[in-house]
Amino acid sequence: MKDVVVVLGAGGIGQAIARRVGAGRHVVLADLRLDAAQAASRILGDAGFETSATQADIASRESIRALIEHAQEFGPIRNLVNAAGVSPSQAPVATILKVDLYGTSVLLEEFGKVVAEGGSGIVISSQSGHRLHALTEEENAALATAPTEELLKLPFIVSITDTLKAYQYSKRCNVLRVMGEATNWAKRGATLNSISPGIIITPLANDELKGPRGEGYRKMLSLCPCRRAGTPDEVGDLAEFLMSSRGRWITGSDFLIDGGTTASYFYGDLQYLKATH
Ligand SMILES: NC(=O)c1ccc[n+]([C@@H]2O[C@H](COP(=O)([O-])OP(=O)(O)OC[C@H]3O[C@@H](n4cnc5c(N)ncnc54)[C@H](O)[C@@H]3O)[C@@H](O)[C@H]2O)c1
Repeated sequence: MKDVVVVLGAGGIGQAIARRVGAGRHVVLADLRLDAAQAASRILGDAGFETSATQADIASRESIRALIEHAQEFGPIRNLVNAAGVSPSQAPVATILKVDLYGTSVLLEEFGKVVAEGGSGIVISSQSGHRLHALTEEENAALATAPTEELLKLPFIVSITDTLKAYQYSKRCNVLRVMGEATNWAKRGATLNSISPGIIITPLANDELKGPRGEGYRKMLSLCPCRRAGTPDEVGDLAEFLMSSRGRWITGSDFLIDGGTTASYFYGDLQYLKATH
């Protein structure tokens, strides 16, 4: 039996984090698309990692429970990485809310019941959540602590009609949910944090840069303080620190890693974006 790392979402960011924290452990790669999980499993397997691939849907509690059973066959679950999600251009409002908002919340609830002592979890949120206006105290508390099955019935969630807002609320909820769940995970001796990346180059982001909205994205990147997009490995570095022995005093926190884009959006050269977001 080995310590197990469960990675949901076998895309670029999930794989980068798996490489940082997976050595000497069993890495379970889970994705809605089994072929994506299998491809990532092969790449990591060829790089010396012990892996297995499985299909899982974070929007289904039954699927998450089955994933936990599968993972526990290899040993105690020490780490959870949630890098699964859908973006505003990929899915309708209902799917974004079901996967990114509800799915992440169920995942944290279910893994919070089984995570091993000394473990840690990371949720990939987004800089997008930082662009949403301030919510009321009651709205914050509901997103952080309402029973998971009530989340999609909250009036201010039901009234969302556009995909960007659905994504922003979901990502804000991820950060608040991590705060709420971190207090439960702590009772099992485990930490839980979120990372909010800016534009990270993955096949998906590359498609966006070459697509119809590419010119806008390229302008934004050229004007952001660091003048480039980020790489999955830079997110992996941060996740590694948070999940290492040096990160044990950090829990319930969110880390913005966006090359200064959010700072510039509010107070710098990117303020022109406020008119469109
Ligand atoms: N790439 C970026 O620029 C960027 C920026 C900020 C935040 N993020 C977030 O990072 C996370 C990972 O993004 P990525 O860039 O690696 O994208 P990606 O598309 O490469 O990976 C996401 C993976 O999630 C899987 N997935 C989708 N729905 C699922 C479900 N219901 N259950 C299980 N798996 C599901 C997809 O099949 C895909 O393999 C997402 O939550 C995304 O919102 C990405």
